[in-house]
Amino acid sequence: MKFFLDTANVDEIRQAASMGILDGVTTNPTLVSREEGKFKDNLVQICEIVNGPVSAEVVSTEAEGMLSEARDLAGLHSNIYVKIPMIREGLKAVKTLSSEGIRTNVTLCFSASQALMAAKAGATLISPFVGRVDDISGVGMDIIQDIRTIYDNYGFETEILAASLRHPLHVVEAALIGADIATMPYKVFDQLFNHPLTDIGLERFLADWDKVKDRVS
Ligand code: G3P
Repeated sequence: MKFFLDTANVDEIRQAASMGILDGVTTNPTLVSREEGKFKDNLVQICEIVNGPVSAEVVSTEAEGMLSEARDLAGLHSNIYVKIPMIREGLKAVKTLSSEGIRTNVTLCFSASQALMAAKAGATLISPFVGRVDDISGVGMDIIQDIRTIYDNYGFETEILAASLRHPLHVVEAALIGADIATMPYKVFDQLFNHPLTDIGLERFLADWDKVKDRVS
């Protein structure tokens, strides 16, 4: 499973990248709006930190506008994947971009039927939002499972990027289902390391070692 960070914050990306297990980054207009500086400059900086896909989203709602934004974004750096919303005009744009070799990430996906349409249009990645479905009393993870089954049934190459993950168990559940990628906020990435028994165990090992340290050699 690939791990992406869902943020536009360069410091968080640097920190996660220093662990050596960061595979990519996803941004969206909301995440970008929280950061200072110029969007494209920040994007290029992120691409230089991360050796993998960096998703940047278009804001046009007509295919023509999406295409021109997408070509511009894709020209900024070879790591850029263009995020396109899961609407009819979006899928028209995805079809064209896929024929031009521009990689896409279809976002705002909330159902297996939408994921099926995106795969048929040639999306490189599909981003089903788990947490936002949970927020309205649905079971977001069921959609990831349904998409996995459908893509496997037909051999679609579109990769499933589990998005809107809010806690470590979301990541584990997505991994059990076989989602190709999990994108998560830095907080969740960091929480994945934690277990109180690891901390207690390490403390005990070090204390016991301290008792015998004079006899080590
Ligand atoms: O980037 C898309 C997605 O991960 C957003 O998550 O927490 O705003 O629902 P959230």
